[in-house]
Amino acid sequence: MIFRHAALAFLLLLSGGCATRRAFDGNQPVSVIAFGSCIDTNSHPMLDTFLKQHWDVAVMLGDNIYADTTDAAVMRAKYEERKHSPFWQSLRSRAPLLATWDDHDFGWNDSGANYAMKIESQRLFLEFMDEPADSERRRREGVYDSYVFGPPGQRVQIILLDTRYFRSVLSTGIHNAVPSGGRYVPSTDTNKTMLGETQWLWLEKQFQVPADLRLIASSIQFISEFSGAEAWANMPNEKKRMLDLVARTERTGRGRVLFISGDRHWAELSRLDRPGLPPLYDLTSSALTQKHARGTPTPNQYREGSTYHDANMGLIFIDWDHRTAYGPQITLRLLDAAGGVRIEKAI
Ligand SMILES: [Fe+2]
Repeated sequence: MIFRHAALAFLLLLSGGCATRRAFDGNQPVSVIAFGSCIDTNSHPMLDTFLKQHWDVAVMLGDNIYADTTDAAVMRAKYEERKHSPFWQSLRSRAPLLATWDDHDFGWNDSGANYAMKIESQRLFLEFMDEPADSERRRREGVYDSYVFGPPGQRVQIILLDTRYFRSVLSTGIHNAVPSGGRYVPSTDTNKTMLGETQWLWLEKQFQVPADLRLIASSIQFISEFSGAEAWANMPNEKKRMLDLVARTERTGRGRVLFISGDRHWAELSRLDRPGLPPLYDLTSSALTQKHARGTPTPNQYREGSTYHDANMGLIFIDWDHRTAYGPQITLRLLDAAGGVRIEKAI
C-alpha cells in the first residue's frame, strides 16, 4: 500500500506518454531502491548504467540540475532540458520517482533560507516533478515529503528532507582540525536550524506512521564527522535532535532507520554505533555525472572502508524473507559507471 500518494505514484507513471510505463502496484513490497545525486549533464556512462539496473522506487537526492541563478527563466530552462532528456524520461517511466533538492537546484551553491527566489524555485521544482495540483507539497513551504510503500509487515517509509528552504546561515571560520573541507565551522547557536520548526514537527509525526523500515533521504551527509563542508555536523544541536528522534523510534519497535545522502561528489558509507540499538548507517552517493576533483577526502571517523571519487549510484536491497535481529536483511551497494561494485555492506 502506498499512502499519501497512490494518486501521485500513478500520475508519475501514467503522465508523459512513454510506452514503457507500467502501473506501480503499491501493495507489492519494495525490494530495491535506487538512488543518486548531482546530475550536470544528460549524457554520461553512469546514467546508462543506472538505467540498466532494476529498482522498485528511485530517489534523487538533489542537484538534479545546476541552476546556480536567481533568474527564474534560467532555472526553468535547465529543468526543461533535464526533464525531457532520455535519462530522466526513462527514470520516470520505470517506477515511482521521488526527489528532493540540494543547493544547486534549490538555487545557489550552499544556499539556504535566505536564497532570494525560493518560492519561485519551489514552484519550478514541483512542476519539474509533475507534482499533482492538489498535492500538499504545493500548499506548504519547502519540498519535504513522505511516502509509504508495501503491505503491513513489509512497509518501507521514504522520508525526503528539505535541508535548504529553512536552513539558517552556516557559521564560517578557521578550524585547525579541518584540512580542506571548506569554510564552515560547527555552531551550537540554538537559533540556527537545519529543517525549521514546521518541518521538524511534521517529521515527528511521520515517525509515528507505521513502517517496518524508514529511509531518510537527506541531501547533505547526516552521520559524517565535521569537515568544513556542508553537513549535519555543522549544527550539532539539530543532529542530536534527529538522533534522539531516530533512537526513540527504534527503541519502541517502530522500524529500523537508514539514511542516504549526496552532495559531496564522492561516495562513502558512514556508520554510527549506539548502545542498545542497531548501527545507524548513512550511504552517501554523489555524483551521478561528476568526478571529484577537490583533493583528498576529509577525515570521517564514522567511515567504513574507503571513499570512491568518480561517478556512482546507490542501491538498497531489502530481503523481506530473511530477517535479522533488527528487521529485514538489507544490503547497501554502490556502483561505479561500469556497473562495478565499489561499496557493499549487508546490515
Ligand atoms: Fe552537487
